[in-house]
Amino acid sequence: MRGCEEADLILPGMIDLHVHMRGLNQRHKGDWRSESLAALSGGVTVVADMPNNVPKIDSREKLDMKTEEAKRESYVDFLLYTAFPYLDERSYVIGIKIYPEDMYEDLNPVFKRASEMGKEVVVHAEDPLILKEAERVFDVKEHNRARPELAEKIAVDRVIPLARRHGTKLRIAHSTLPYTLAAVSEAKAEGMEVKAEVTPHHLLYSPSDADSLGSLFKVNPPIRDTGEKLLGMVRAGFADFLVTDHAPHSPEEKSKGYEEMPSGIPWLDALTPFLVQCVEEGKLPYRILSMYSANPALHLGLRRGSLVPGNLADLVILKRERWTLKKEELHTKARASPIEGKELKWKVSKVFIRGELAFHDGPVISEGFGVPAL
Ligand code: DOR
Ligand code: ZN
Ligand code: ZN
Repeated sequence: MRGCEEADLILPGMIDLHVHMRGLNQRHKGDWRSESLAALSGGVTVVADMPNNVPKIDSREKLDMKTEEAKRESYVDFLLYTAFPYLDERSYVIGIKIYPEDMYEDLNPVFKRASEMGKEVVVHAEDPLILKEAERVFDVKEHNRARPELAEKIAVDRVIPLARRHGTKLRIAHSTLPYTLAAVSEAKAEGMEVKAEVTPHHLLYSPSDADSLGSLFKVNPPIRDTGEKLLGMVRAGFADFLVTDHAPHSPEEKSKGYEEMPSGIPWLDALTPFLVQCVEEGKLPYRILSMYSANPALHLGLRRGSLVPGNLADLVILKRERWTLKKEELHTKARASPIEGKELKWKVSKVFIRGELAFHDGPVISEGFGVPAL
């Protein structure tokens, strides 16, 4: 291929089904410009953005506001979710997100409507009553131990029957437990359309890493000591999608005391080089790259992310180069990343979106290039 060196590695454009780009009234944390530039430079060509904005995306009017902002500013293509109890017909709105605080609402109407509309229900599975109870028992500074596994188990056991009853497509967001992947697998065996996301932080890090990494690794659900077992199940094919849950907060917010600081890890900058390196070093299985490209593409019927003849080309070309990601080079407004300061063996050289060169050692398109991916 012209314009390619021998040492290059060509991959499909990566698709992240779970990110928080922020914008609207949280532009100090991140906006579509900064966070989509982080995505592009990390080899991610499509992002699906969560609805827990300020204001949350629970009406058509707010969805329109958000869509306009994304169209104006995004460097990469996008999909959106709405917030409980609002669902929208538009094709690029792929589902509704259920948060812990929604868990004790009557979820039946939403599961029924999502099923009728062919949309997905995506659940942040942590039972709020268990979380509240745990707060009284644990020291909140022990964040990574204070949100018990039981909260995830109970939430998973609550939503799978709802999906069964209504024939709804269901996805468990950021699964942290072998229990969750086993439950999803059992539901699949029944013929249900239930899928599971996993994140790099829950697979690669343990609570002791999280303690030493401090504020950056305060995240929900927390880092647990289940990473190795979870990874074993990912290797065996029990999870469907890798997602980053990219969740930027401002450096000021993250430097508050441990109790007050918000949860969330910014991941997108330099992500594909990092993932490929993890695969080469045997830390992640090869399938992790399909879980971040072909799997979401096939799941959504997106003509991207999988190298099928006739597809529109979303491609990432990596070159072999030793480099270290510096704080000043990060695009995210969080100005932090688990990869910052790490020596990397690959670098994103080129990115093609819909067949157009979008990145060549830096963006060669302007903001607003990104469009709804469906
Ligand atoms: O750690 C988290 N951060 N977990 C969530 O569920 C939300 C996210 C955010 O929006 O910051
Ligand atoms: Zn979540
Ligand atoms: Zn999230």
